[in-house]
Amino acid sequence: MRRFPNALLQKLSKRAEDSALRELPAGNSLVDFSSNDYLGFAASETIFRETHQLLSDRKITANGATGSRLISGNYPLYAEAERLVASFHNGESALLFNSGYDANVGFFSAVPQRSDIILYDELCHASIRDGIRLSNARSYKFAHNDPEELELLLGKFAIEGTEIYIATESVFSMDGDSPNLETLAALAERFGAHLVVDEAHALGVFGDHGHGLVQHLNLQDRVFARIMTFGKGLGCHGAAILGSQVLSDYLVNFARSFIYTTGLPPHSIATIITAYDHLENENPAIEKLRDNILFFNEEMNRLGLKPLFVRGKSAIRSAIIPGNEKVKDIASKLFEKGFDVKAILSPTVPEGQERLRICLHSYNTKADVSGLLNTLVTCLT
Ligand SMILES: Cc1ncc(COP(=O)(O)O)c(C=O)c1O
Repeated sequence: MRRFPNALLQKLSKRAEDSALRELPAGNSLVDFSSNDYLGFAASETIFRETHQLLSDRKITANGATGSRLISGNYPLYAEAERLVASFHNGESALLFNSGYDANVGFFSAVPQRSDIILYDELCHASIRDGIRLSNARSYKFAHNDPEELELLLGKFAIEGTEIYIATESVFSMDGDSPNLETLAALAERFGAHLVVDEAHALGVFGDHGHGLVQHLNLQDRVFARIMTFGKGLGCHGAAILGSQVLSDYLVNFARSFIYTTGLPPHSIATIITAYDHLENENPAIEKLRDNILFFNEEMNRLGLKPLFVRGKSAIRSAIIPGNEKVKDIASKLFEKGFDVKAILSPTVPEGQERLRICLHSYNTKADVSGLLNTLVTCLT
């Protein structure tokens, strides 16, 4: 057996001591309040069958892309999907990436240049932060959803010849809240900066047909780039960066996570096309999800739980319960009662901000929602 470095073993032990050791969960058949499958598309047999039909109608039998899209891995379904995604989102161009992680890493590592500045919300997703770490640009965070601090930073850095990129999310993945995108767009315009919005948790949730929050607010022409990820509301896999045609051309040439990786298999692209088709055609799941979000908020208020929760209107509702031990204990009690809710521990979130992250879905029943919140009340007392 090869020796495993001591320093790494110590890091693992420290994680365990802090009750923060990450372990892969076994599957379960509890009530789902943890997955990102907001509309139930991941489990949809209809989407599964239609995807296969699409592939067989086009006589596509390939299992894999066979290479990078720049070498042998590009095929007509890709262009079709990119046209569809761009048109659905009222954007000039869409470029598909293998995942949201790849899209953010690719964008932030390639677009901002050495003399540029990135200003990012302190709660931006790890994929945005990893992209920023790979970038040559200088970066500064601003307090979560704080346009005043952002304005101060913009005032400080807006000088001739420096491009400024502002990074935010339309729904924050851990808090489920949203920035005031209109204010951010106005600030970006005032200071000549570029606004970049990750819409991972807004796709399928906000806007007619689940278009996302940017489109819901009609801001698409005021945003430099939008990152749409397909592993959440769309229930499949992959991501797109929406922006101008020249942005797509630039990313094809310089985004390393786009260039140096095998393209997605046709099955993935066909699923993306089918899932978008379901958003386009008035999917009742969107309405059901919205109903459940409203019902959750009503029940939360009725049971006096409001002070515990981060404010938000999305499908992610977070109850702050400080302390890894405490939040894990409550999550395991909920688990015993049949509810799959994940405890989010530090260091994933800052110490003191540990939380239960409750994801709502179109397929949760009102009884599920009431049952969960009533059980939470008993766990807290
Ligand atoms: C805000 C945000 N952006 C990007 C990603 C990454 O997306 P993907 O799962 O497609 O890699 C996630 C996933 O957790 C996310 O929450």
